Amino acid sequence: MDLTNTNRFQGIRTPFYYYDTALLRQTLDTINEETSKYEGYHVHYAVKANANLKVLKVINEAGLGIDCVSGGEIKQVLKAGFPANKIVFAGVGKSDWEIELGIDNDIFCFNVESIPELEVINEIAVRKGKTVDVCFRINPNVGAHTHANITTGLAENKFGIAMEDMLTVIHTAQQYPNIRFKGLHFHIGSQILEMDDFIALAKRINELQDQLEAADIKTEIINVGGGLGIDYANPQQNPVPDFKSYFEVYNKYLKLRPGQSVHFELGRAVVGQCGALITRVNYVKKGSVKQFAIVDAGMTDLIRPALYDAHHKIVNLTSDLAEETYDVVGPICESSDVFDKDIRLNTVRRGDLIAMLSAGAYGEIMASGYNCRKLPVGYTSEEL
Ligand code: LLP
Repeated sequence: MDLTNTNRFQGIRTPFYYYDTALLRQTLDTINEETSKYEGYHVHYAVKANANLKVLKVINEAGLGIDCVSGGEIKQVLKAGFPANKIVFAGVGKSDWEIELGIDNDIFCFNVESIPELEVINEIAVRKGKTVDVCFRINPNVGAHTHANITTGLAENKFGIAMEDMLTVIHTAQQYPNIRFKGLHFHIGSQILEMDDFIALAKRINELQDQLEAADIKTEIINVGGGLGIDYANPQQNPVPDFKSYFEVYNKYLKLRPGQSVHFELGRAVVGQCGALITRVNYVKKGSVKQFAIVDAGMTDLIRPALYDAHHKIVNLTSDLAEETYDVVGPICESSDVFDKDIRLNTVRRGDLIAMLSAGAYGEIMASGYNCRKLPVGYTSEEL
C-alpha cells in the first residue's frame, strides 16, 4: 500500500477509508495468474468483505465472479456491473424476497443450508415457473486455527447441513422438479494462515465425494468457500497474500471427478491489504501510567479490534520524530473503543494523520452509526 504522498489527504474529512487500486489490481492479477494454471478454477469475490462500488468495479474488471449473502449484496453487485450468472448466493437465513431476487436474476447457484430453505426455494421456483441450481452447504466439521468468532465449519456452528444428512438432502432435492442439484459448498472459517486447515478440508471433501460416487450421485460444482488470511503484522512486506500455495494445496489434495469445477469465495485476501483507515489525532493525553493518542476514528469505523481482538498495524503518517509508546483510542463511549495498546509510534501531536493498515476487508462495510456518527467515506487512489 503506497502511503508516501500524504499531501493527497489534505482537506479530506477524517476518518475515511483509502483504497490503493494499484495494489488491488496487482492482487487480482496474481489471483488470475495462479488460477489460470488449473482447469476449472473460479474465484467468486466474497462481497461481504467490502461492497464499496469503486472497489467492486475494479474487481469486476478483473473478471472475478461474486459471492453474496443477502439481497442487498445482490443489488449492490448488479449495480457494480457483475453478471448475474457469476453470483453464488449463500446464507443460513435467506428471506423470501431475497430468494425471489436471486431467481428473477437467474443467478449461478444458491448455496442452500437446510431442507426448510430448499422447500421455500422450490415453492418460489414453482410459482415462477423456473428451475433453480443449488449446491448444499455441508458442515465438514473441520476446525480452523483462527479466532472463535470467525470459525464456521465445526459441528457446533449454525452453518450448513451435517455430513451425515448429506445423502438425504440430495435425494430430497432430486425429487423436486424445479430444483437442479449441482454440487457441494463448504467454508471452514476466515483469516486462515495454516495451509494444513485447507488440506484437512480437501481431504474431507474427498471422503464425501467417495460417498456420493458410491450412491451414484453426480456433482459438477465443488465450492470450497474462502478463508485465506493476510499478514496483519507486516502488511508492507507482504501486500499480496500467498495465493500460489493456496491454490496449489487444492490442486494437490482435492480429487476431482471429470468435468467438475472448483469455486472459491475469497474476501479478505482480495481486498484486505489495499485499504487503510485514515484518521486524525484530536488529542494526546498523558495519564499516570499511559499515554493516549485519541483519534477521530472509533470502533464505529473499524470494529475488528473491539470485536475480534484484531491488531491492525498503525502508523503515524505526519511525524518522523522519535518513537514513543501509546494506546490508540477512539472517541466512542465504550471501553472497548481501543485500536491498540502500548504500541510504538513516531511522536504524536494534535492534527497528525494516522493510518490503520490492512483495513480493506471487514472495515468500511462493518461501520455503524452508533453515537450518531457519520459513516466513513471510502476514496480510491485514483480519486485523491
Ligand atoms: N464464504 C462464506 C460462506 C463466508 O461465510 C465467508 C466469510 C467467506 C466466504 C469469505 O471469507 P474470507 O475469504 O473473507 O475469509 N468479519 C470477520 C470475518 C467474517 C467472515 C464471515 N464469512 C472479520 O473481520 O475478521
